[in-house]
Amino acid sequence: MNRIVYVNGKYLPEEEASVSIFDRGFLFADGVYEVTSVLEGKLIDFPGHLRRLARSLNELGMAKPCSDEELLEIHRQLVAQNNLEEGMIYLQVTRGAADRDFVFPKNATPTIVLFTQAKKLRNSPKINLGYKVITVPDLRWKRRDIKTVQLLYPSMAKMEATKAGADDAWLVEDGYITEGTSNNAYIVQSTGDIVTRNLSNDILHGITRASLLEFASAEGVRVVQRPFTVDEALEAEEAFITAASLFVAPVVEIDGKPIGSGKPGPVVSTLREIYLTKAMEKAI
Ligand code: PDD
Repeated sequence: MNRIVYVNGKYLPEEEASVSIFDRGFLFADGVYEVTSVLEGKLIDFPGHLRRLARSLNELGMAKPCSDEELLEIHRQLVAQNNLEEGMIYLQVTRGAADRDFVFPKNATPTIVLFTQAKKLRNSPKINLGYKVITVPDLRWKRRDIKTVQLLYPSMAKMEATKAGADDAWLVEDGYITEGTSNNAYIVQSTGDIVTRNLSNDILHGITRASLLEFASAEGVRVVQRPFTVDEALEAEEAFITAASLFVAPVVEIDGKPIGSGKPGPVVSTLREIYLTKAMEKAI
């Protein structure tokens, strides 16, 4: 790979980019991130990602490394310099490098890193097959609303899913599904209602979720925001997940049991089309 990446003010070939071994992102997972998708060389849902980044930084008392205008310019430069047509841009901000101490350093300079990942998102084969998920206990920390880089448990859960022959895991707490390892979770009931967990510290406030719910409501789809159980999901007509990395994608199986017909259904397919059409109209 010969990517040009961005690190602390510089565009560099990836092999020349580095950060300090004292960086608090490395030592304490003291960092936050965003993933923005790119379609036809354009940024999808970008203002939402900027807003959530500002919120994550604020919740952790971290300095903003640069202005929103500069962030947009960096994203655009990386798209241009890497000829990125379709894929993702990963952005990470950490509190910066300081001698190891649990107490936050007073005047560390934030570290900012961005890189591109080329990937077919729109015509991914998984869209036709649907995702198979297993359920695992949600053992993450209690501030899942902050998009931090402490992703070890989601990574372990995904490994467990892979070992079980599934694609992903849905996390369960107190009998209710919180979300997927790296996506928000939904069911479609026989009434046509979409059910997805309400926003709180229990889940990440997905940007794709926010846009989809807005677009779907405008189309007259009824959305109910409340926790739902694994049993409810098994009785649902359809189920799906959303994230910047997959937009809206069908879930066809939970713990080896089929949902509805066991195949991607029409409601999810329509929601995916609505999302892609409207999100492309707003892409920048
Ligand atoms: N993950 N929930 C969790 C735990 C996530 O990690 C993500 C995103 C989402 C969906 O958020 P959004 O719609 O803003 O992408 C929900 C990204 C894509 C990742 O970690 O790669």
